[in-house]
Amino acid sequence: MAILEIARLGNPVLRQQALPVDLDELTRPDSELQNLIDDMIETMHDADGAGLAAPQVSRSLQIVVYECEGNKRYPDRPSIPLTVLVNPRLTDLSEEKIMGWEGCLSLDDFRGRVARSRSLRLDGFDRQGLPIGINAEGFEAVVIQHETDHLIGKVFLDRMTDLTQLAYQKEFETYWMPDDAEA
Ligand code: NI
Repeated sequence: MAILEIARLGNPVLRQQALPVDLDELTRPDSELQNLIDDMIETMHDADGAGLAAPQVSRSLQIVVYECEGNKRYPDRPSIPLTVLVNPRLTDLSEEKIMGWEGCLSLDDFRGRVARSRSLRLDGFDRQGLPIGINAEGFEAVVIQHETDHLIGKVFLDRMTDLTQLAYQKEFETYWMPDDAEA
């Protein structure tokens, strides 16, 4: 396994539409894509991220990993087990929104307050190419929306409606975090 370089805002790969993964290629013995997934997980752990999408490691493919277990960047969030998503599709995004402060390993020193749907349905495949369906809500739904946005060339800044609620990490902790009692 290896820790991969994370593409930062300004790298055009973050703005591309990621390609669907060929499931035959994914499940072939000694598929390079399995190594990529292992490396994405290791890179996410190394950077204390709650999620990572393949375009963030300069691979324009529809692969996302996420996990939230005792995360230093998100200490107050509920635990989410390690999940690998291939070719995810979102439906049933709730009209009801929740506001939350998001960070991103590709914008590593920023936090921004973003409105996301409270709940959604996700259909896709796991790393073995088997179909999976997830009904997510709250923090997991937010993470899924953030990560799948990376697959369509979007970052959380694009979802912000009030840029006065964009902050550097340190200022976020000083001025905003005490008031942050949201989902
Ligand atoms: Ni991100």
